[in-house]
Amino acid sequence: MSRRVSVIGLGKLGASMAAGIASQGHDVVGVDINQAAVDAVNHGRAPVQETGLDDLIAANHPRLRATRSHAEAILSSDISFVIVPTPSDERGAFKLQYAAYAFREIGRALAGKPDYHTVVLTSTVLPGASRYGLLPILERSSGKRCGEGFGFCYSPEFVALGNVIRDFLSPDFLLIGEYDRRSGDHLEAHYRDIVDNGASAARMSIENAELAKISVNAYVTTKITFANMLAEICDRMPGGDVDVVSNAIGLDTRIGRKYLTGALGYGGPCFPRDNVALGFLASALGAPADLSGTIDRLNRGIAERLVSRLVGTVHPGATIAALGLAYKPRSHVVEESQAIQIVKALVDRKYRVLAFDPLAGHEANQELGGRALVLDSIEACLQDAEVVLIATPDPSFAQLTAADFTRGHTRTVRVVDFWRHLAPALQGAPGIDYIAYGRCGVTPPSEPNPLAELWEDAVAGFTEGA
Ligand SMILES: NC(=O)c1ccc[n+]([C@@H]2O[C@H](COP(=O)([O-])OP(=O)(O)OC[C@H]3O[C@@H](n4cnc5c(N)ncnc54)[C@H](O)[C@@H]3O)[C@@H](O)[C@H]2O)c1
Repeated sequence: MSRRVSVIGLGKLGASMAAGIASQGHDVVGVDINQAAVDAVNHGRAPVQETGLDDLIAANHPRLRATRSHAEAILSSDISFVIVPTPSDERGAFKLQYAAYAFREIGRALAGKPDYHTVVLTSTVLPGASRYGLLPILERSSGKRCGEGFGFCYSPEFVALGNVIRDFLSPDFLLIGEYDRRSGDHLEAHYRDIVDNGASAARMSIENAELAKISVNAYVTTKITFANMLAEICDRMPGGDVDVVSNAIGLDTRIGRKYLTGALGYGGPCFPRDNVALGFLASALGAPADLSGTIDRLNRGIAERLVSRLVGTVHPGATIAALGLAYKPRSHVVEESQAIQIVKALVDRKYRVLAFDPLAGHEANQELGGRALVLDSIEACLQDAEVVLIATPDPSFAQLTAADFTRGHTRTVRVVDFWRHLAPALQGAPGIDYIAYGRCGVTPPSEPNPLAELWEDAVAGFTEGA
């Protein structure tokens, strides 16, 4: 069954959703306040950078158009997904002004629409924001009561940048916070015609769905931070290997292996802020908020802790290369990137930093404001570097050989690999001092061993002349 859908906000998530819905045979009208985004879609091009989006929009051009008019979109659709920015505010909560503007425009259009319409908020918001912040705007500007003239759901997506289209069309589950049964039924019927994997729907109150959304991301940040703690332990524990430990505990079905690769911290536009927002909510309601705060503090401290350790072993003014600058591989996004934090901490300590990223060079250059030299090839980066940091597990870095690092160098090059991706090529290679972060060599008997020191006194009296 073909459906008429509108998508308000054609950004990283909204444009991908609009194209994904059109690809399932439905008629989609996109709305954006930004004329360039509207023009891009109407010319069959992606308004934002996202894997596969250009092709998907081009292929579904006849079923997908865009406008700046909220009214035009509401009147030519039966259901609207609102996916506008909800930036963090100074409290750690999410600002509602973009959504409020969209809801006022949608309400005005609903005032003149006789047919039932379901409004779905997809943007990330905190509990209570829909019912007490945004729904009153819809009711006031439409002159109608929710549940009578129109329905409402809060239904966020769980997508990763770079995989947005696939994650949207094949979700693990559908999260539906419904104002009433009719709204939820309407939305679920739409999803059934869109998703391609028969994902089950978790239907609940609006507030529980708002909490569930940020809880997923906050839980993942907890898991990543636990794995990173293991990496920091293994990096100091004689004979420690974080991958060996993670592979083992990941076999436990209560834990699982995903997001358990101890390395640098999490970043990007969603994880850090959703975790902080959960802490804000907990504290606003008088519940313990220490967990979110601790995770945020640990995560934000990783770059500084690693740089402090590095500084003790690298001479002042040395040239250090950082490979990988985005918050994750295959991304243009440098928001909350751990690599950028590391580069800034090194520059602050007066090291000369050269940097490279296969996709995010331009964005990184803007973020760094010329403080480090962002180069457009790995070769140029490695040519001068005495120390090389592998800051993201980008697949292209795993192709590098020992010769790529040693070419033109007369002295040993140190490579610090935070993701341990280059171990097969670099471990033990001549001319390279390879350091796999999260792995610690076995301490020779002649050197102090922190593990031995822990236990020697505990068995005093039993080791001599037993
Ligand atoms: N990007 C993701 O992977 C992701 C994942 C999960 C949740 N989210 C959430 O989705 C929401 C949108 O995120 P995004 O990354 O797509 O943002 P974005 O900044 O990439 O895009 C937002 C778009 O909305 C448009 N816009 C703003 N106000 C508007 C209005 N009143 N009417 C119409 N268009 C308007 C902007 O011009 C922009 O094109 C946020 O709440 C975010 O937290 C995003």
